[in-house]
Amino acid sequence: MKIEINKQNASRLINCGPVILVSSGYKGRKNITTCAWSMPLSKNPPLLGVALAKKHFSSELIKLSSQFVINVPEWALLDKVMLCGSVSGRNMDKFKESGFTPEKAHSLSDAPKITECAASLECMLVDSKETGDHYLFTGEITYAEAKNNLFVNDFWDTNKAELIFHLGGKFFFKSSPYTEFTK
Ligand SMILES: Cc1cc2nc3c(=O)[nH]c(=O)nc-3n(C[C@H](O)[C@H](O)[C@H](O)COP(=O)(O)O)c2cc1C
Repeated sequence: MKIEINKQNASRLINCGPVILVSSGYKGRKNITTCAWSMPLSKNPPLLGVALAKKHFSSELIKLSSQFVINVPEWALLDKVMLCGSVSGRNMDKFKESGFTPEKAHSLSDAPKITECAASLECMLVDSKETGDHYLFTGEITYAEAKNNLFVNDFWDTNKAELIFHLGGKFFFKSSPYTEFTK
């Protein structure tokens, strides 16, 4: 038997990319927002999409600066991830409150990366589309980096990296050790 799922929450059925922190900046203001809705869009050129609510401070900064960084936090950072996803940067300096360190990005002028995260993907904004109450921001990756002991031969080593996954609401699970399919 299958049950009908409320359309508003149906995205949770496929909402299983790792939770990311989107960092942004413009003219000295900088911000972090937690984001579960992200997706790869193209390999060549390397494009990624993030869906951010129109009302978010981060959306404002991204529109002004045309750049953002996708940072991948590990499980141990869940408290900070929740803080950055619960309050608007209009009312709080989330770098200061969370203790996350803003670091100059390799390829971007305004958006900082977050030192404590396991990986960062620096992106220039190439498109923004209105999708209901969100913008779908498309970013072209201009530089990417990851902790070398956690991302090995271009794969997460999930024996070591514990990434955060979001079921929705206050429910999360962590990545588990990988298996290689050999048949
Ligand atoms: C686990 C988690 C996932 C979230 N995912 C998204 C998302 O994908 N898109 C979005 O617009 N907001 C998402 N949010 C909400 C924003 O992070 C939150 O509203 C934040 O305070 C907005 O901050 P800002 O106004 O400083 O940009 C999420 C929050 C949490 C806790």
